[in-house]
Amino acid sequence: MSKRIALYAGSFDPYTNGHHAIVRKAAALFDEVVVMIAVNVEKRRAFDAEAMRRAIQATLEADGLNARAVIHTGLVADYCAENGIRWYVRGLRNGMDYSYEENIAQVNRRLNPEMETLYLRGDDTAISSSLVRELLAFGRDIGDYVPGSVWKTITSTRQSKYASSIRSTTL
Ligand code: COA
Repeated sequence: MSKRIALYAGSFDPYTNGHHAIVRKAAALFDEVVVMIAVNVEKRRAFDAEAMRRAIQATLEADGLNARAVIHTGLVADYCAENGIRWYVRGLRNGMDYSYEENIAQVNRRLNPEMETLYLRGDDTAISSSLVRELLAFGRDIGDYVPGSVWKTITSTRQSKYASSIRSTTL
């Protein structure tokens, strides 16, 4: 029988405990989960994508999950078609997420008719990547919101320039 592989994509800027909770649920349902840093054309990244991919990979390995982290700069639907992945996992935190996700699911289905979007409940509805970035910009610890490897990456010298550059532009 062929492997049941699911894809979970996001900007992950940064990857949070909320994202990781969805990956853990998906990993319990599938043989393998591909965690993809993808491009949201509406957003400019704050954290280096490859450094974040490595931090996500370390988090997946530390938890012994059947999952791996990749970066993809094209359409999610194309990646699924090229890699024979049928299941596209999305986390839903509230009704607003649902309305937004439904539109994307329908477009993805047109781009790749084999692709099925699967919604999993997000448990911690308060976490978002921008909230984490905001706390960081004001010098607060984000240890409660992101996995340890992500915390280390963010607070390393190079990445912490982000916090100081935001602070210097704050009135
Ligand atoms: N727990 C915590 N936070 C969550 C979450 C969860 N379970 N699920 C989503 N979020 C947060 C994200 O961190 C993000 O926060 P932010 O706005 O503060 O950064 C927000 O909710 C929105 O998440 P999402 O809808 O996944 O957006 P995204 O920017 O992280 O990812 C892509 C969007 C990358 C998946 C999408 O742009 C994409 O697929 N790009 C590739 C091109 C493509 O195929 N486009 C689709 C064509 S229709």
